[in-house]
Amino acid sequence: MTNQLCIILDFGGQYNQLIARRVRECGVYCEIKRFDTPIEEIKALNPTGIIFTGGPNSVYDESSPHISGDIFKLGIPILGICYGCQLMAYTLGGAASTCVTSEYGRTEIVSDSSCALFKGVPEKNIVWMSHTDYISKLPEGFTVTAKSKDCPCAAMSNAEKKLYAVQFHPEVTHSEYGKLILKNFLFEVCGFTGDWQMDNFIEETVEKLRRKIGDKKVVLGLSGGVDSSVAAGLLSRAVGKQLTCVFVDQGLMRKDEGDFVEETFTRLFDMNFVRVNCQKQFLEKLKGITDPEEKRNTIGTEFYKVFWDKVREEADGGFFAQGTIYPDRIESGKGNKSGQGSTAVIKTHHNMVKMPEDITFDGIIEPLGELFKDEVRKVGEKLGIPHELVWRQPFPGPGLGVRIIGEITEEKIKILQEADAVFRDEIKKSGIEEQLTQFFAVLPDVRTVGVMGDHRTYDHLIAIRAVTTDDFMTADWARIPYDVLARISNRLCNEVDHVNRVVYDITSKPPGTVEWE
Ligand code: XMP
Repeated sequence: MTNQLCIILDFGGQYNQLIARRVRECGVYCEIKRFDTPIEEIKALNPTGIIFTGGPNSVYDESSPHISGDIFKLGIPILGICYGCQLMAYTLGGAASTCVTSEYGRTEIVSDSSCALFKGVPEKNIVWMSHTDYISKLPEGFTVTAKSKDCPCAAMSNAEKKLYAVQFHPEVTHSEYGKLILKNFLFEVCGFTGDWQMDNFIEETVEKLRRKIGDKKVVLGLSGGVDSSVAAGLLSRAVGKQLTCVFVDQGLMRKDEGDFVEETFTRLFDMNFVRVNCQKQFLEKLKGITDPEEKRNTIGTEFYKVFWDKVREEADGGFFAQGTIYPDRIESGKGNKSGQGSTAVIKTHHNMVKMPEDITFDGIIEPLGELFKDEVRKVGEKLGIPHELVWRQPFPGPGLGVRIIGEITEEKIKILQEADAVFRDEIKKSGIEEQLTQFFAVLPDVRTVGVMGDHRTYDHLIAIRAVTTDDFMTADWARIPYDVLARISNRLCNEVDHVNRVVYDITSKPPGTVEWE
């Protein structure tokens, strides 16, 4: 890596990935490391700056993540955020105490613009606070650089040692000048040059891929999703026909999607494109299955069987590539010494690629392993991948299989594909697509009585789902305007055979999940 590096030390806060994304948006390459990464390792990485994240703990808890005071002796600028701010104070001989009044949410602070961190920030500004402890005693050599009504130290610094800390969260958009504060730290204090740019990334990655792959072959599983599409684009640019993309069409994709993916990659990119059409085989396997988990498992197992069988045929030594991105690889500090806790399995996701033992490759290639999703999209656009693919909504591995409740049949797939296409078309025409994170139609396998012309009908109900969310851990149902809902309902009943009723899903997550199964 030739870029300057900012290290983000993860103390388990909820906004850690957001901090990293903001830093990257400033053109600075950063990596998230666990809070207990050895100082020697940090030193060896030669970072230009370090950020301590927030965390859910109090610095006085026995089990709280702590850090050796040696980190402050490296001479590398450090910014502490929230818990990271208190930790800096505590470790350097100051103290934190419980606030008389905890601060949550939008809070006005008064900041000192003579401090490098607040350069260009108006004296009074709004920040996002979320804390119950505050710094009650400053460490030696520090001065207060911002305060709020209830917090006598909303920010502190020791400019000589290049140590800065803020009690609030500059990374969230509710902090009006948060981005400027982060920029000030990166550019004014640390001296970053902003050398992390996607154009350079493409050039450097293509060069690296060429060196690594040489004249060998590469096989990539292409799903038509954003990540594998962009990985395919990069690999194609690097090694052209040495790349074989295997695309499994299990018949559970959206209307015309399989053809669109094939057309795009065979027309725009130099590669071997192998499409496996196995719609019938999947329908056969899914016959009679109604339980959601059994469905998911059947689809997943069958998918990988078909995929690996094809890879076995195509692979000829060489490399196996996949579209893994940075958030898939981050090991969170999780804010306690035991690290990651266990979470209940709500649904089985089928994105984990486990390679059968009889297939061997010279190595695995993950060309997007350092990128966040928004960066992957920028790369995709620069590579000329169509907007529709680059900005594609998340689509579950089991596809429409988890949007057809009950048994999956050819007829139901057809109804849902048509309904979903009409719904998506109407959202696009209404100009509200950008406001929704994900939207799709569901076939709940319910028939209801209706009337069309003078005739009684007994046909399918379509449910429509539209959500807004930042991270899919929680989601809200989107407030689609009534007139748009009216047009959608009209078109679905008129244009899609076997649909005579439409309902709108108004469940948030939790208690619902985004998908119905
Ligand atoms: P849920 O239904 O768990 O969905 O609230 C959250 C997000 O994940 C997507 N999803 C999947 N994505 N494989 C995937 O790649 C899957 O098996 C899967 N199941 C759900 C869902 O569409 C939503 O964006």
